[in-house]
Amino acid sequence: MKVLVIGNGGRESAIAWALSKSPKVEKIYVMPGNAGTGISWENVDISPSDQEAVCAFAKEKGIDLAVIGPEDPLVAGLADQLSGAGIKVFGPNQKAAQFEGSKAFTKDFLMRHHIPTARYREYTDLDSLKEGLGEFGFPVVLKADGLAAGKGVLICQNEEEAVRGAEKIMGERAFGDAGNLVVVEEFLTGREASILCFLDGKRIVPMESAQDYKRAHDNDQGTNTGGMGSYSPNILFDDEALVERIEKEILTPTIEGFVEDGIDFRGVLFIGLMIENGEPKVLEFNVRFGDPETQSVLSRLETDLSDIMLACVEGKLDEQPIQWSKSPAVTVVMASGGYPDAYEKGKVIEGLDAVEDAVVFHAGTRLEDGKVLTDGGRVLAVTATGESLEEAREKAYRELAKISFEDGFSRSDIAKFDS
Ligand code: AMP
Ligand code: GLY
Repeated sequence: MKVLVIGNGGRESAIAWALSKSPKVEKIYVMPGNAGTGISWENVDISPSDQEAVCAFAKEKGIDLAVIGPEDPLVAGLADQLSGAGIKVFGPNQKAAQFEGSKAFTKDFLMRHHIPTARYREYTDLDSLKEGLGEFGFPVVLKADGLAAGKGVLICQNEEEAVRGAEKIMGERAFGDAGNLVVVEEFLTGREASILCFLDGKRIVPMESAQDYKRAHDNDQGTNTGGMGSYSPNILFDDEALVERIEKEILTPTIEGFVEDGIDFRGVLFIGLMIENGEPKVLEFNVRFGDPETQSVLSRLETDLSDIMLACVEGKLDEQPIQWSKSPAVTVVMASGGYPDAYEKGKVIEGLDAVEDAVVFHAGTRLEDGKVLTDGGRVLAVTATGESLEEAREKAYRELAKISFEDGFSRSDIAKFDS
């Protein structure tokens, strides 16, 4: 089987790596990929936004399965184009991708189907927005409706900050058209958890749980990032009553709502939750695997990922067993100094060959004259598994210490708990 993985981050490295373990997969292309995917598989220098070129490539090479990693091509309708060209594609169509493309679309869906979420209101003009900022008290959350590379959510502590936030999104248009509509949302407290689920159009099957660390620095200090580390399973999910509530109050009404609304979702739904006093509420839906949750979660998958993906595409998840390893996994991201704000690229990465006991998933890297150079904010994700979470964590950090590049940093507290 020939597989095309679309994207270039740590998530796509992990997807390609998991697929490469399948005896059925004979060839993997990654488009456009990074240094690591180019070394292990074959990179294709085509932009995922060039839908015509992507389809032409997939047809020419006889691709049996295309997997779309990031949200932008999904929201732009690449899955529709590929399936229109007769290619099997893992990743939701454009209609279903609206759950990530529009926060208001998701909020409306959650409300109509009585799925627990924060109270909200939406605004399309700055004056009414400013008047409505105080409705749910402070802090308050402002969300640019559209895609904003993970930056469109502002948590404002008081009215002054909220007014500034409203002006930033709607006045200065800091996120462009993504801010034409703004969702004002009640601020929720509690602990965050993400659940990734496989969907085949009619069924939803949760993967093992994970936790992401969103802030740049230790003890959740610093700016929000795409994610600086993860571990799986999430310790919050030791609580069986909570797992049952999530199933009953969130997963079941979600898939029933999709079917009722005529949304044919085949791919991964990523549900961001806030949990307080055992009560789960939906923060967001994403329509793809999470990064760096995927690195930890797929490291624990024992079933052939190509079988699961094809079962999703063909609407046969009920016939597909999915097995997970009991061994926990820990992922630590190595980022460029300054990330998520301005950072330099082109630093030489040393020590990659010395890693023995962990998998290094490349993200922002490129190859030049045989050297691996940094080429993005999140550069590498180091994932280890172990008998216990502590062992996995210790291994991940031990192996990560062998790798270095100028100004690189990582958090030292991933999967670390006060005992
Ligand atoms: P989102 O992209 O909607 O998940 O928002 C990004 C991050 O903002 C989340 O992971 C939370 O940390 C935070 N967040 C979003 N909505 C809320 C909310 N209603 N209350 C508290 N924090 C929130
Ligand atoms: N780690 C969060 C995300 O992928 O959106």
